[in-house]
Amino acid sequence: MELKEGIKGRRSIRKFTDEPVTKEQIEEIVEVARYAPTWKNCQSVRYTLILDKGIRDRIANEAVMGFEWNTKSIMNAPALILVCTVDKRSGYERDGSESTSKGEHWQSYDAGLASEAFCLAAHDMGLGTVILGIYDEAKVKEIAGVAEGEKISALIPIGRPAESPEAPKRKEVADLLRVL
Ligand SMILES: Cc1cc2nc3c(=O)[nH]c(=O)nc-3n(C[C@H](O)[C@H](O)[C@H](O)COP(=O)(O)O)c2cc1C
Repeated sequence: MELKEGIKGRRSIRKFTDEPVTKEQIEEIVEVARYAPTWKNCQSVRYTLILDKGIRDRIANEAVMGFEWNTKSIMNAPALILVCTVDKRSGYERDGSESTSKGEHWQSYDAGLASEAFCLAAHDMGLGTVILGIYDEAKVKEIAGVAEGEKISALIPIGRPAESPEAPKRKEVADLLRVL
C-alpha cells in the first residue's frame, strides 16, 4: 500500500467480524511498529496481546469508566492490545535526571508514534484498529497484570473490519499550518 494512501485511508474501526486474530499476525505488526522512532532509540514501548476472552470482557465491562462505546469496541473485537511504556526512559538521562523540562511528556510521545505505526501496519494487512484513551489505568493493570514500572498508554482493539466508516471531517491545511 502506498504510504500516503495508507495514512489517509486508515480509519478507527469499532465493529469487527468474528475472524480470530493470531499471535503471528500481531508479531508481524510489531515487527513493523518497532521501527517507529523513540527518544534516543530507547525503545521503551511494549505490547500486550490479549486473546483471552475472559480478560477482554473484564476490561470492557469494568475498566472503561462507563464509556459504552469502548465497552462495545472491546467486546466486538477478537483481540485487544495494551500499548505500554517503560517508565523513566523517554526524556530521561541514564542517571535518572530529566533531559528536558517536559518530564514524562516524551514517554507518551513515543507511545503515540508507536501506536500510529502499529495501526498503519495493521491497516496494511487488512486489519482494523481503534486507539482507546478512555480507560481506568489502575483497573486495566490489575486485570491484565501489567509489570511494575510500566504505564498503559492506550488500548487498541484489533480485528477484521465489519464496517467502513467515512473519514471524520478534517480541518483545512490553511487552518493547521502557520508559516512565519
Ligand atoms: C489519543 C486518542 C484517544 C482516543 N480515544 C478514543 C476512545 O476512547 N474511544 C473511541 O471510540 N475512540 C477514541 N479515539 C479515536 C478517535 O475518536 C479517532 O481517531 C478520531 O475520531 C478520528 O477518526 P479516524 O481515526 O477514523 O480518522 C482516540 C484517538 C486517539 C488518537
